[in-house]
Amino acid sequence: MNFILFLLILTTGASSKSLPSNIRRCSKSDPNLNKCLDESAADAVHKLSQGNKDLGIVPLEPFVIKRVDLGNTTSGAVSIHQVYDDMKIFGMTNATVTNSDANFTGDNCYWNYQCFSPFVRMEADYTMKGQLLIFPINGHGKCTNQLYDIEAKYGAKCERFTKKNKTYLRVTDFTWDVKPKRVVFDFDNIIDGNEQLSKEVVKTLNENSEAVYADVGPAFNEVMGTVWKQTLNQVFARVPEDELFLP
Ligand SMILES: *[C@@H]1O[C@H](CO)[C@@H](O)[C@H](O)[C@H]1NC(C)=O
Ligand SMILES: *[C@@H]1O[C@H](CO)[C@@H](O)[C@H](O)[C@H]1NC(C)=O
Ligand SMILES: *[C@@H]1O[C@H](CO)[C@@H](O)[C@H](O)[C@H]1NC(C)=O
Ligand SMILES: *[C@@H]1O[C@H](CO)[C@@H](O)[C@H](O)[C@H]1NC(C)=O
Repeated sequence: MNFILFLLILTTGASSKSLPSNIRRCSKSDPNLNKCLDESAADAVHKLSQGNKDLGIVPLEPFVIKRVDLGNTTSGAVSIHQVYDDMKIFGMTNATVTNSDANFTGDNCYWNYQCFSPFVRMEADYTMKGQLLIFPINGHGKCTNQLYDIEAKYGAKCERFTKKNKTYLRVTDFTWDVKPKRVVFDFDNIIDGNEQLSKEVVKTLNENSEAVYADVGPAFNEVMGTVWKQTLNQVFARVPEDELFLP
């Protein structure tokens, strides 16, 4: 996918950082490491929802993205070009984490986990050009898309590196699969200059939201995957391994 995302990145000093003291650290050798990760990851995301300059984490609630340009996405004979500006995503920090499967000992460095978010809302200024269902679209304006019961699977593989005599983790491979159960779209002015027709088209899009999401959804899935990947990497790059975990 031809995907361009402009994210704000905080740069901080080169010195190593510690996790805030209110964040629970897990022990790498704990036989219940996976359970500890489930609990502490969800709790940490909640506590870091307003961001943390020291750790290079931008505010997550809402999470703001200046621009997402999806380029041309094509499914079958139909192609659509979507651009979202000033995208704001609400509700991602309400995720629960389950089914962690992780190992950070020896040569191992991986963490697979699942997230469940009951409700995520995205607002943006959009432009969309191409075809959705049977409709030729040439719209621009505000959009608000609501996603319910989102199940996501993430997988991180990592490696270790040394900086100033301290060991750090770096995510080398990050995969994600994000699926909402139900989606409600709202695009103002999707048929440029025709309010009545725009309403009708959006109504039809919502009646066929599964098919529409197959075209439009990858944008949101990529965004959410990228957000978590970046957040994880920001922390890993600043907090040495022996500060992330108890022995
Ligand atoms: C997108 O695809 C359409 C049809 O194939 C083409 O006319 C248009 O130039 C493409 N737009 C971009 C930005 O690549
Ligand atoms: C998070 O969940 C709580 C409880 O369900 C809810 O009151 C709150 O509005 C949610 N926050 C966001 C940002 O969706
Ligand atoms: C994690 O990996 C280490 C070293 O490869 C291995 O000895 C240990 O059994 C693994 N732990 C779990 C819980 O799988
Ligand atoms: C780096 O770590 C090694 C082993 O822990 C130690 O012997 C050495 O003195 C450290 N070097 C510096 C510059 O801190």
